[in-house]
Amino acid sequence: MSPEHIALVKSSFKRLQPRMNEFVNMFYVRLFDTRPELCLLFGGNIDQQSRVLAAMLDKIVKMLDAPDALVPLLRDLKSRHAAFKVKPEHYAPFGEALLWTLEMMLAREFTAELRQAWREAYDFLATNMR
Ligand code: HEM
Repeated sequence: MSPEHIALVKSSFKRLQPRMNEFVNMFYVRLFDTRPELCLLFGGNIDQQSRVLAAMLDKIVKMLDAPDALVPLLRDLKSRHAAFKVKPEHYAPFGEALLWTLEMMLAREFTAELRQAWREAYDFLATNMR
């Protein structure tokens, strides 16, 4: 990712911080609307899961310009996700739901360039977790 795209992802995510609960809740509603079968992978408390996802995304976004530190974190997440029975093909619908939610929440601020920057960021995550 270019430094410009990293900066775009960081600043847009920062703008979402005051609405982070709404963001992650909308994300899971969208994910389970589009791929109901994925709901079965999750143990139960989606509020708790929303909080850990928000905290992890925050950590990851802050580390986007430090890939040497980020990659080992993603590898750890990857092995935990394998234990949760997450399969490589689950990453695409997860990414689509994430981009859709960003678009809904950021509305006109979600420009084509910002979409591209987020897609690159998610591809980096997914490639290192799949
Ligand atoms: C690519 C970005 C992703 C991130 C940043 C992420 C983040 C997290 C985090 C922080 C946890 C809490 C447990 C832990 O830290 O080990 C978790 C759990 C989990 N994630 Fe993900 N995840 C991602 C992708 C996915 C995908 C693609 C799926 C499949 C649909 C998935 C399904 C799950 C499940 C089933 C759990 C366990 C929930 C439970 O305890 O019942 N995740 N994820």
